[in-house]
Amino acid sequence: MLHRHPSLWSYILEWDALAAKGKKWTWLNDREVVLLDPELILDVLNDRTGRYEDQSAFFRTSSRAPLCPRLRRQMSGSLMRVLSANKLCPSRTVPALVGSAHRVPGLGVRLVSMMFTEELGLNLNGAGEIVDEYLRKIIVEHDLLGTRLVRVNRLFTGLVSRLADWLKFEYQAQDPPRNIFDVALSGLPELDHTEAAELALRLALSVTGFTGVALEWALVHGSEDVEHKNALSRFGAHNVLRESQRLLPTAWRLVRRASTDHSYGDLRIPAGTTVILSTATGQRNESEWSNGSSLCPSRWNESAPANFYIPFGQGANSCPAKILAPRIISETVLAISKKATVSFASRQPRKPTVGSLLGLPRGRITFHVRATRAER
Ligand code: HEM
Repeated sequence: MLHRHPSLWSYILEWDALAAKGKKWTWLNDREVVLLDPELILDVLNDRTGRYEDQSAFFRTSSRAPLCPRLRRQMSGSLMRVLSANKLCPSRTVPALVGSAHRVPGLGVRLVSMMFTEELGLNLNGAGEIVDEYLRKIIVEHDLLGTRLVRVNRLFTGLVSRLADWLKFEYQAQDPPRNIFDVALSGLPELDHTEAAELALRLALSVTGFTGVALEWALVHGSEDVEHKNALSRFGAHNVLRESQRLLPTAWRLVRRASTDHSYGDLRIPAGTTVILSTATGQRNESEWSNGSSLCPSRWNESAPANFYIPFGQGANSCPAKILAPRIISETVLAISKKATVSFASRQPRKPTVGSLLGLPRGRITFHVRATRAER
C-alpha cells in the first residue's frame, strides 16, 4: 500500500530513478506491482482479453463498483452535454481574483467551481451547502492539502446521506439534465438515492479537483515559461498546458486489478494483484522525450509528438473530458494572462503535494495586474 505521509512525491522520484536504470517494473509487496515501462502500461490499458477487472474512476459507488457500461456511457455523455451547454466565460470569473494572493493547492478548485456554479448545484438551497462542504473539506483540505488525512470517511458518508435526503424529498430532477444531480438521478431506478448522491459528489470531484489542479500547474508553468511571459497566445496557453501535463500530470498514476494469472515476459502477475501504472514516469523518461525532465512548451509547436503521453488515460476507461477540460484550462490561463502576470511562492520544502492528485507545493499564487497602455 502506498503510504501518504505527508505526500507521495518520494514514490515518483524513486520510480523515475528506477526507470532511468532500465527497470520496467518494481514490486511494492507481494500483492502490488508498479509498471514503469510505457509499452507495458499501454498493454494493460488497452487489454481486451479480460485480464483486468472493469473499473471506473468516478462511475462507482460504495455498494456497487463500477456501474454497468451502459449507465456509464449514458452518464458520461450527459455530463459532457451539461458542462458544454453554456458558453465558457472565464473572463467573467477572473477579475475577482486579480490583484491578490491565493492559497494553493485550492485556488483551481475555487476557480472551476465559480465557472460551473449552476452545473455543480452550488446555487441550490440545501444541496449547495453540501457540495461546498465536500469541495472545501474533502477535496481541498484532505485530498490536496493533506490537513485532514484521517477520518474523512465519516464526513463523506454524512454528506452522501444528507444529499440523498435532499435528492429524494426536495429535488425535482430536470430532463434533459442541467446539473450533476440530474446526471446522477438519470441512473434511477437502477440506482437508489444514496448511490445517486455518492455519484453526484464523485462527479463534483472530477469537474473541480482534476481540472483545478491541472489549471494551477498550467498557471505556474505558464509564468515560468520565459518564451511566452506576458504574452500568452491561445496556442501558447494550450502548449503550456500540454507540456505541464507531460511533466507533472495531475493523474500521475492509474490503477488496475488483475482478474486472471498472466505474464508479461518475466513478469508474472497473479490474479488479485493491484497493478499501478506509473504514467508520470513514462512521460518524463529520456528514452521517450529528449530533455524529458525540463519544461519545454515549444516542443508542442509542431504537430503532436507521437511519444508516450496519456494524461487523460487511454482505452475504455479514459477521461470523457479529454477535449473539454483542456479547453476550460487553456481559456482560463489565457483570460488571466490578458489581465495579469502570475507569480508563485512556495513554502519550504518545495515538493509537490501528492495524494490521489499531483498538486502544487503549498504556497501562494499572486496575480499582478498589468499596467494598461495608458498607464505605461
Ligand atoms: C471537466 C473536467 C473533467 C471531467 C468531468 C472528468 C470526468 C471523468 C470521468 C467521468 C472519468 C471516468 C470515466 C469512466 O469510468 O468511464 C474520468 C477518467 C479520467 N480522467 Fe477525467 N474528468 C475531467 C477532467 C480531467 C482532467 C483535467 C484530467 C487530467 C489532467 C483527467 C484525467 C482522467 C484520467 C487519467 C481518467 C482515467 C482514469 C483511469 O483510466 O483509471 N480528467 N474523468
